[in-house]
Amino acid sequence: MKKVFVFMVFAILVIACGDAPNKEATNAPKPKSMIADEPADDGKGVGQTKAITLNTPLLAPMVAKGKAIYEMKCAACHKLSDKRVVGPGWKGITERRKPEWIMNMTTNVEEMLANDPTAKALFKECLVAMPNQNLTVEDARNVLEFIYANDGYEVTEL
Ligand code: HEC
Repeated sequence: MKKVFVFMVFAILVIACGDAPNKEATNAPKPKSMIADEPADDGKGVGQTKAITLNTPLLAPMVAKGKAIYEMKCAACHKLSDKRVVGPGWKGITERRKPEWIMNMTTNVEEMLANDPTAKALFKECLVAMPNQNLTVEDARNVLEFIYANDGYEVTEL
């Protein structure tokens, strides 16, 4: 009797697994070639910004908002020239970094400093961790517009 019972439980388990055909597929070990030890660095950084479409020319109202945020929250540590104060100067940053990277650095700095190879290297140089400035993604996007204007990209008339 006990054996029959065990068999029935086993049969139910098998049927249950049969009901979820994907489960086995997800749990199955992946072939070695599909496992990346270190994900390749795409230069976009880590964070919620995956893709940015730049405005050509830049939009003046966004540049103005970004400038105001810069003056309030960033100017103490970042010059608009290429001179480093606490953090690197911003001149030329659009040549060094992708726009997505700049956005992620601005909105997700802790994770960037912990996991992004470029941000980690910067921290080694600067020896100060950039504090989280609590910018919304929208604020950060306006600052990005200002950063491109600072690098000489064309801006629309106000
Ligand atoms: C207290 C100083 C401080 C403030 C304020 C600050 N940062 Fe930073 N920032 C740093 C430091 C230091 C680094 C270099 C990375 C590190 O060591 O953490 C940095 C790096 C950066 C970088 C990358 C620079 C490069 O050359 O790649 C960006 C972009 C940036 N900050 C954006 C901002 C923005 C936007 C603000 C304002 C909303 C801001 N930061 C405010 C200190 C600061």
